Amino acid sequence: MTEVAYVNGTFLPIDEATISIEDRGFQFADGVYEVVSTYGGRPYAMGAHMERLQRSLHEICIEFDVSGLPAVVQQGIERAGFDEALVYLQITRGAAPRHHEFPERPPQPTVVMTVKQLYRPDPTLHERGVSVITTPDLRWKRCDIKSIALLPNILAKQLAHETGAYEAILVDDGERVTEGSSTSSFRVTGGVVFTSSPGAHILPSITRGVLIDLIHGLGIKLLEEFSTVEDYRTADEVFLAGTTTEAMPVIRVDDMQIGDGTPGPITCRIREAFVTSVHAR
Ligand code: PDD
Repeated sequence: MTEVAYVNGTFLPIDEATISIEDRGFQFADGVYEVVSTYGGRPYAMGAHMERLQRSLHEICIEFDVSGLPAVVQQGIERAGFDEALVYLQITRGAAPRHHEFPERPPQPTVVMTVKQLYRPDPTLHERGVSVITTPDLRWKRCDIKSIALLPNILAKQLAHETGAYEAILVDDGERVTEGSSTSSFRVTGGVVFTSSPGAHILPSITRGVLIDLIHGLGIKLLEEFSTVEDYRTADEVFLAGTTTEAMPVIRVDDMQIGDGTPGPITCRIREAFVTSVHAR
């Protein structure tokens, strides 16, 4: 078992993988990415990830057809040989002398992949729940594009880390919760699940989409509309969603305990439905 890298058509050991210092991903964060995990050794929701990647590329005008990537991912997973893998895919506009505008003659996009052992969160986190902080959402106005420009996200996550919290929930100028720094967020109040409406203020998270379908299937009422930070702080239940996070119960928002300080019943049902669905594939 070994960590694998792939750069522009070539598989190689991670510490031998290089790209040009003039790559526009490095210079300008001019690129997009996906993170895919496996269950039972098979990539999860590959079709949805590829669709989102193609859309992100389209939105930033990089011409690249992703249809060959699932085979590359499969080959990477096989070469790496881990029981469960985390696949990171990044596509940038390519290498060119540093000018802000797109290069006159489009360079070959840079395609990078790494395949590593997947470490899902410690099961005790799912059993006991986690704490989150809230912090201003400093991101740009196209969060629907899965851009590699993640500085506001990493600053928010670092703040969470420094305060011992699992995640930072981002709050816009109107005191509305958008999502987590690397997760989608949900709250439950009076038996109704709320999550931000889709749009340019959030990433169209794959896990969010899966959970929404499962919530409908469970017959639980769900509203895709904004919540305020106060709605979150006073919610009966809160949970996060993401590729590695899955559905993660939250038991504290800032200084406020959520519910009785243990994972809420609706969150547990949704999480159970998620776990059942991924293993039933
Ligand atoms: N993050 N919101 C943001 C801002 C994210 O960065 C992510 C994923 C999510 C969850 O999306 P999905 O269900 O498609 O994983 C929501 C990835 C995992 C990352 O940056 O590592």
